[in-house]
Amino acid sequence: MLTGRRILLGVSGGVAAFKAAYLARRLVERGAEVRAIMTRSAREFIGAQTLAAITGSPPSEDLFGADSVSPHTDLAGWSDLLVIAPATAATMARLANGLSDDLLSATALAFVGPVVVAPAMHTEMWEQPATQRNLALLKADGVHTVGPVSGALAGGDEGPGRMSEPEEIVDAIEIVLGGGALSGTRVLVSAGGTREPIDPVRYLGNRSSGKMGTAVAEEAAARGAEVTLVTTAELPVSDAVAVVVVETADEMADAVWNRTGEVDVAVLAAAVADFKPQDAAGSKLRRASGPPDVKLVPTPDILAGVASQDDRPFLVGFAAEAGPAEQAVGKAAAKGVDFLVANDVTLPDAGFGTDTNRVTIIRPTGDTDEWPVMSKRQVAARLWDLIQGERASS
Ligand code: CTP
Repeated sequence: MLTGRRILLGVSGGVAAFKAAYLARRLVERGAEVRAIMTRSAREFIGAQTLAAITGSPPSEDLFGADSVSPHTDLAGWSDLLVIAPATAATMARLANGLSDDLLSATALAFVGPVVVAPAMHTEMWEQPATQRNLALLKADGVHTVGPVSGALAGGDEGPGRMSEPEEIVDAIEIVLGGGALSGTRVLVSAGGTREPIDPVRYLGNRSSGKMGTAVAEEAAARGAEVTLVTTAELPVSDAVAVVVVETADEMADAVWNRTGEVDVAVLAAAVADFKPQDAAGSKLRRASGPPDVKLVPTPDILAGVASQDDRPFLVGFAAEAGPAEQAVGKAAAKGVDFLVANDVTLPDAGFGTDTNRVTIIRPTGDTDEWPVMSKRQVAARLWDLIQGERASS
């Protein structure tokens, strides 16, 4: 949450400026007090009235002619954090070189607190050595950057340069400001489906996309936790999350077990293969040789290994069921977890690859709590509310 935080939102002139309105809304929703500054070219893309309605005060636009004799130092003195979204190539250049020829750059120069910049521009502009130089200068000055990501750009183009989504920028702001509900908490999350090699080109795998576990890791980081994500899925994830990429159940077991002695909470959301080919062929199996006789052997039960540790962390498992989530009731008792998050992966709005999930919380006592369909990120947020509540009361 950003309750009581004063955030100055700088908007420069790019088509992504419309997303600044969503960003302002998200910041206000999380309890921040927001004031906006618009550059001259931002006015071509978003109306001052829109930002005024969302933030509750008209955006500042000019260095001269304002009510204050020194608007840049007033604004800089007022705020806890300056976020510039979108930051155009020109704005980045001004910031990197200490120019102060408009209200936004002058305020940035007068501001001594944390600065978060979300660049947005065409791919060619982003990749120009000049922009990359400015980016390096900003980073060396301690400026935090979010994105850009790859995607649709103005004029129908596509590529790196698209501004990160407002939710990601809010996460970055929460991390920079720190003091979140999970600050000081060490968290390990597993995500994705393991792949068990049959030969150098083929594997036994499953349909897990890693989105749910990645959302759990992102949400924990946004709440200030120190997070390690052990994953088979290389999805975009906040810089604040330490990512360990693995492929097989054995690799995941090593990566998880080596770390769970040092964490406070482990959320094992990965879909781990229960069996692997006993001996992966060293060279590609040939069609002409006929169907191979693949003998399967069990993989380690990673969750059970953590559950049996002395002084184990608070432990949350997942259960992917093909059918009603209540089928996992026995599993919750057998697995030695604090609770299981079960879902029916055959439903269209739950499970593998979707952006939403519909989960049931199952406790070792057999008590169940069915949550409505939500985005995976919302499920992650509610999960952390639950974990925080349970840890506080134990
Ligand atoms: N899990 C694990 N190691 C395995 C298999 C599963 O750590 N080798 C973990 C998963 O990460 C998940 C939980 O155990 O948190 C439940 O996984 P699931 O596949 O639903 O349960 P299984 O015990 O494998 O039972 P089954 O597949 O028979 O339903």
